[in-house]
Amino acid sequence: EGIEHTIQAPTDMNMNIMEVVSAYELAPEGTIGVCGGMAMCASCQCYVLNDTELPEMQDEEEAMLSEAFDVKDNSRLGCQIRITKDIEGLEVELAPEC
Ligand code: FES
Repeated sequence: EGIEHTIQAPTDMNMNIMEVVSAYELAPEGTIGVCGGMAMCASCQCYVLNDTELPEMQDEEEAMLSEAFDVKDNSRLGCQIRITKDIEGLEVELAPEC
């Protein structure tokens, strides 16, 4: 909805971006994390806005994004990006489907 949030997410709980967005209730209930983080629904699609180095995309994520709507070059599945210290400063925008 164009609202910017700054989130401090724990790096020691093995969470991913989708889980953080859900935990902070930043997307309407039931619209994100539909498959539970299995890379099977794309409800967690987000656009990476800065050049933070992210883990390489795996085959499952790439396959799901190939079937999703509103995919851009900077699309990733939030459920496939673990919250670690390496991604500090990451900026993402939730895709319209969220
Ligand atoms: Fe379903 Fe990420 S929660 S693909």
